[in-house]
Amino acid sequence: MKLNIALLPGDGIGPEIVDQAMKAVKAVANKFNHELEYTEALTGAIAIDTVGDPYPEETHELCMKSDAVLFGAIGDPKFDNNPKAPVRPEQGLLAMRKKLGLYANIRPVETFESLLHKSPLRRELVEGADFVCIRELTGGMYFGEKGRKDDGNTAFDTCIYTREEVERILKLGYEFAAKRNKKLTVVDKANVLESSRLWREVAQEMAPNYPDIQTEYMFVDNAAMQIIQWPKNFDVMVTENMFGDILTDEASVITGSLGLLPSASVGIHTSVFEPIHGSYPQAAGKNIANPIATILSAAMMFEYAFDLKEEGKLIRDAVAASMAEGFVTEDIAEGPAQSTSAVGDWIAHWIEKN
Ligand code: IPM
Ligand code: MG
Repeated sequence: MKLNIALLPGDGIGPEIVDQAMKAVKAVANKFNHELEYTEALTGAIAIDTVGDPYPEETHELCMKSDAVLFGAIGDPKFDNNPKAPVRPEQGLLAMRKKLGLYANIRPVETFESLLHKSPLRRELVEGADFVCIRELTGGMYFGEKGRKDDGNTAFDTCIYTREEVERILKLGYEFAAKRNKKLTVVDKANVLESSRLWREVAQEMAPNYPDIQTEYMFVDNAAMQIIQWPKNFDVMVTENMFGDILTDEASVITGSLGLLPSASVGIHTSVFEPIHGSYPQAAGKNIANPIATILSAAMMFEYAFDLKEEGKLIRDAVAASMAEGFVTEDIAEGPAQSTSAVGDWIAHWIEKN
């Protein structure tokens, strides 16, 4: 099969971790005789510095004509404490989501046996936790009308959703639940927000069409609590953009490391695969960052974008082997820590020989 990938390494540790993921991608493509083509493009702070735009048109065109996008991370501290910056790296990510129509962000939360002791939760609470957060990604407060009034002293962001937007994301949630443990938790704030009441209304209309699936409704504050109290009770969780942003950070740390979780953003055009962590600028260029979340994002790319399950599984198995062996970076190492590139090489080599 011909695999045509756009690489968007971005900022901070982005380039290093994407390099490691590509080692795994090349090893798998080689093994299964896929013809691999890949092109790199600019996004994030580096794109602002180079061409003045965090998601340049040229990058968008490349994404549109590729079969999948592998994304590193964006963000640079020089923008974080400057609320008046005219253009910010994060706008590139939002523009990419909107222009590619990536309305669903899929974040699987899985635990690794060898890391359970690093979880902030007690082992018995988190062991065996396995759920998927599906976050709506192109609506809500992120994209609703926003602005300032009264000479700049009053500010507003609007949370807006259409029925169609809610329906398509819930439909995806039901499809995931059907393939998993048949439970869908719809997270909202319907006791306060009108947009949430629309979510709940639409969910209540759709639920009878999925008689095999148990639909559960939960207010977001309660969900935040239950994720740390009873993480094993969740199977598929679906929620609006802002709630999803917050809950997925919370959900990710219960596994023991933020450096491990991959994600897929899917929708209308080309899907994007990226680690859920940020650009970790303090580690940039030091060859110490954990590449596993990006390598697992590459596994998701094989599974979701190319429907190549065996290839994805081989990458997952290689990652599991490196963790079982303790051949990992400093954030999760018990013994001697390995460098980013050494972990990438080890995983690619494991793929070659298995
Ligand atoms: C995420 C990030 C982004 C978001 C930022 C970088 C704009 O936190 O992907 O979760 O808020 O969506
Ligand atoms: Mg976030």
